[in-house]
Amino acid sequence: MADLAPSILSADFKCLEKQLKLIESAGINRIHIDVMDGEFVPNISLGFPVIKAIRPCTNMEFDVHLMVKNPERFIISAANAGADIITVHQEACSHLPRVLAQIKETGCKAGIALNPATSPETLKYVVRDACQILLMTVNPGFGGQIFINGMMKKIKECKAFLQAMGCNPYLELDGGITIENALECIQNGANILVTGSSIFNGDIQNNIKQFQTILEQEEQNIC
Ligand code: DX5
Ligand code: ZN
Repeated sequence: MADLAPSILSADFKCLEKQLKLIESAGINRIHIDVMDGEFVPNISLGFPVIKAIRPCTNMEFDVHLMVKNPERFIISAANAGADIITVHQEACSHLPRVLAQIKETGCKAGIALNPATSPETLKYVVRDACQILLMTVNPGFGGQIFINGMMKKIKECKAFLQAMGCNPYLELDGGITIENALECIQNGANILVTGSSIFNGDIQNNIKQFQTILEQEEQNIC
């Protein structure tokens, strides 16, 4: 079944522990954490001391999305802070296979992210080294943006590309995912939906329940 990964970027930072416990008790097992450098993306979010501080608050997997240039500088810090999965941008790495190997050496799972304008074909020679491919469905850097329409086609094409390559990493989508478009995203091949504002704005537990209902329905259709 496809899964949800709420994005901490939209959480209430003054009560992070409470919010993490709330989403975990609603059945969430993965939290998405964006780290930004103000250079690869035009924003700054949170850093490794914060990740380290919240690590003991929850058993959820930490899905750390490094939206930074030359992420090899921060792999050890991310792992030491408690990351389980570290995803780097193809566009941010001069030597992507080396960075993926570096992530795996820390014991973390390695993911590759692609900006909206980057083709999945660019991963032809490295895709087998990743356990997940993250497709940005908005321009990275901010929560609460609108899903870019052309991305539905890209999700399908990426799924087909992965199948043609004979590998099956998780396909994660990030940005602009809502109750309205979640079903189509899964039907097109997504395994993990990163959801920021549509989880943390309003009634968090009710929002999660609505997404879970969609995921369960789709699971029943598949079976
Ligand atoms: C955007 C970040 C996302 C963001 C998603 O650049 O990578 O993880 O938090 O937020 P929503 O779901 O609000 O688009
Ligand atoms: Zn992200």
